[in-house]
Amino acid sequence: MRPGTGRWIVVVAGSEALFMDILKPFDDYETAALAAIASAQTAAELEQVRIEFLGQKKGRLRELQALIGQAAGEERPAVGRRFNEVRTVVTQRLQERADAVAVQEAADQERFDVTLPGTPPRLGALHPVTQTINRFRDLMGRFGFEVVEGPELEDERHNFEALNIPPDHPARDPLDNFYIATARTTSGGPVLLRSQTSTVQIRTMEKQSPPVRIVSLGRVYRPDTIDRTHSCMFHQMEGLMVDRNVTMAQLKTLLTLFARAFLGPDVKIRFRPSFFPFTEPSVEVDMKWGDSWMEIGGAGMVDPNVFRAVGYDPEEVTGFAFGLGIERFCMKHFEVDDIRRFYENDVRFLSQLQ
Ligand code: PHE
Repeated sequence: MRPGTGRWIVVVAGSEALFMDILKPFDDYETAALAAIASAQTAAELEQVRIEFLGQKKGRLRELQALIGQAAGEERPAVGRRFNEVRTVVTQRLQERADAVAVQEAADQERFDVTLPGTPPRLGALHPVTQTINRFRDLMGRFGFEVVEGPELEDERHNFEALNIPPDHPARDPLDNFYIATARTTSGGPVLLRSQTSTVQIRTMEKQSPPVRIVSLGRVYRPDTIDRTHSCMFHQMEGLMVDRNVTMAQLKTLLTLFARAFLGPDVKIRFRPSFFPFTEPSVEVDMKWGDSWMEIGGAGMVDPNVFRAVGYDPEEVTGFAFGLGIERFCMKHFEVDDIRRFYENDVRFLSQLQ
């Protein structure tokens, strides 16, 4: 008994007078609540603890509140103060523990299970023109064509001369080409951005003797007026096949099979007579997909002068060559009606073409 602390009250039970510690239930409550909070491991467990100790309806706090009413007049302030104290402490601890559990649960979710199969990160997507190029490469690979690369900056020999385009030919007009004013070849000749991928035919035949079966895909540059179907930079796929008996019928078959493999079985191919200095005969190639014909490029049988320029004997070999506009196929495939959209880098547009 510690008289004078305001903590002990006298309770009369039957004929006996007992001293009772009126604050003990508060101590017990505090001890039990803090222990329960400390041992809760999850948000759900903590919620159970909250309901038990702080719940408005049946929580143990309600029982304590009733004790305030039972305390005698002089003890009541001390009991009320203790009530507020334990409520604050328990509420605070509960909040602290809830924060810690939340952090732990978040960390657990991020934990890496190395035994799960991997998901590749989404790092962006390939540009529709790149997708088309990749498909072209793949298809031509199946037809037995090797993919070769060529430079985008060219000299006049590869862009014109060896392709049987003489010095006074209008195709060499500076207004129709991007000559580089500040650059010269090692022998002092002009340098230009290639206007066609046919340059790669020459580079390949210079290095390799027949038979040849190559494609080359890449950018070409022409100072055209830009509109829905023209851009001053676009992509071509060049093809070249040289052997003892290469024929125009093979060229037509190859292009038909290629177009069908790319766009579907009902695609038709049409040749119209045309002229290119490096092929004879030359044709314009049209493709019909749906109801309208569309020009997709040029082609023909390699001109004997081109063979001579690279040291091949035109009496020994024949060959076909073709140059297709890659954007044309890409536009048809994705149903895009304006070539400029491919180069505006609008992700809202590009992300739809996957
Ligand atoms: N180089 C021609 C062009 O760009 C296309 C072509 C290639 C034509 C090969 C015939 C043979 O228009």
